[in-house]
Amino acid sequence: MKLKSDFLWGGALAANQCEGAWQEDGRLPASADFLPDAAHGRWNAMLHPGNILETRYDYYPSREAIDFYHRYKEDIRLLAESGIKALRLSISWTRIYPTGEENAPNEDGLRFYEELFTECRRYGIEPVVTLCHFDVPEALIRKYGAWADRRLIALYEKYAATVFDRYRNLVKYWMTFNEINMITHIPYLGGGLLVDKDDPEFNQIVYNAAHNQLVASACAVRIGKKINPNFRIGCMMAAGSFYPYSCNPNDVMEARISNNKNYIFPDVQLNGCYSGFARNYFAKLGITLDEQPGDDELLAQNTCDFLGFSYYSSRLISTDPEHLKNVADGNAITTLRNPYLQITKWGRQIDPVGLRVTMNDLYDRYHKPLFIVENGLGVEDTLEVDGSVHDPYRVEYLDAHITQMKKAVLEDGIPCMGYLVWGIIDLVSAGGGEMDKRYGLVYVNKHNDGTGDLARYKKDSFGWYAQKIREECYE
Ligand code: BG6
Repeated sequence: MKLKSDFLWGGALAANQCEGAWQEDGRLPASADFLPDAAHGRWNAMLHPGNILETRYDYYPSREAIDFYHRYKEDIRLLAESGIKALRLSISWTRIYPTGEENAPNEDGLRFYEELFTECRRYGIEPVVTLCHFDVPEALIRKYGAWADRRLIALYEKYAATVFDRYRNLVKYWMTFNEINMITHIPYLGGGLLVDKDDPEFNQIVYNAAHNQLVASACAVRIGKKINPNFRIGCMMAAGSFYPYSCNPNDVMEARISNNKNYIFPDVQLNGCYSGFARNYFAKLGITLDEQPGDDELLAQNTCDFLGFSYYSSRLISTDPEHLKNVADGNAITTLRNPYLQITKWGRQIDPVGLRVTMNDLYDRYHKPLFIVENGLGVEDTLEVDGSVHDPYRVEYLDAHITQMKKAVLEDGIPCMGYLVWGIIDLVSAGGGEMDKRYGLVYVNKHNDGTGDLARYKKDSFGWYAQKIREECYE
């Protein structure tokens, strides 16, 4: 059985991981431009970001990335050969408002995205646009401490209104913030916050910044719907349900609590208010949100149309101290090692059935359409001398996940708008800053140290995906 003909098969990218051109045509630096590569302690810099804005190294991966800014035409032409129907992209805030506070937007930046989205449409590819994907203007970090300050809300709303207005006829699908729950795990990446993970005020700062983002997200929905009532505006979370390690009721309860923590933000964006769990959790942690009069109504009246989510793996939790020792390292959201699953070198456990479980959990909770806006396998690939890349492991991963996604839709009855392969072209890893953790169906000849001529090569998985889309949509 096939999915509906309007199902959005496609791929996903993010500006800070692909564009480069970090100081061109009026753009000023943003948070990701200060993240060093793995060899210079990227993780440590994210967890202790105190002096992250001081440039100390020669190489910062995002500053050139895969040079999508200059090569997007050839990249989109290449991707179009696979028959994709949608491409998720994000807008770099500092291309539009370089410091975040200008009165007028930067026309060069606006023109770039206009041409980019037009180029997508020329090939029948629907742009799916994230307003903020791990991206905060440097100037706003320095001046306000980024999302820790409520003044970011109005600045974000102005930015959102500008791009909604300019692309009102080019873009229909939007998302307000990428992986909004990630701010509680890696706050510099999620919100440009300079808070140290050992800071006693960590939870207070992070959850309050998240509240500011939630209010900003609702403001964006409000203004977006005014500008074009046909917009479909979604929220986006890092998903992957927690399983209990055993049938011990304490483990089952612990898994539920872990899931509840991840749902705190989509609860607000889809249900329009904080859950009872969230309120009690805040009280337990001694968190007081800076809620202002009008916030409750704003959040209640401007909920999102769909839930976009990334899925890479399920997660596992236990109350048994013995089991708690066995962590699968390498992910921002801690999980235990699941003995039933294979694991990649980067600590991702491979669980296609977990995607179906997660989709059921999310739909049961929200009853809003789902959109898988990231799924993929990040591993090393080998470019052969003849320019081929043989990646059967990626085909196996994607095929297994698509199979489970189809079961969720066709057997479990869950509405799903589309499926987007993360990093459809190799790009800079958000967590590690590496190039060699490759997700793409297109290989980019660039390496961890920044060397390489940036040439693009189709991997075997590219042809496989093209065939899959053909079968699903046309044959
Ligand atoms: C998601 C992000 O967390 O996972 C992407 O939205 C990121 O930006 C992706 O690249 C994969 O993570 P990583 O660390 O392997 O790049």
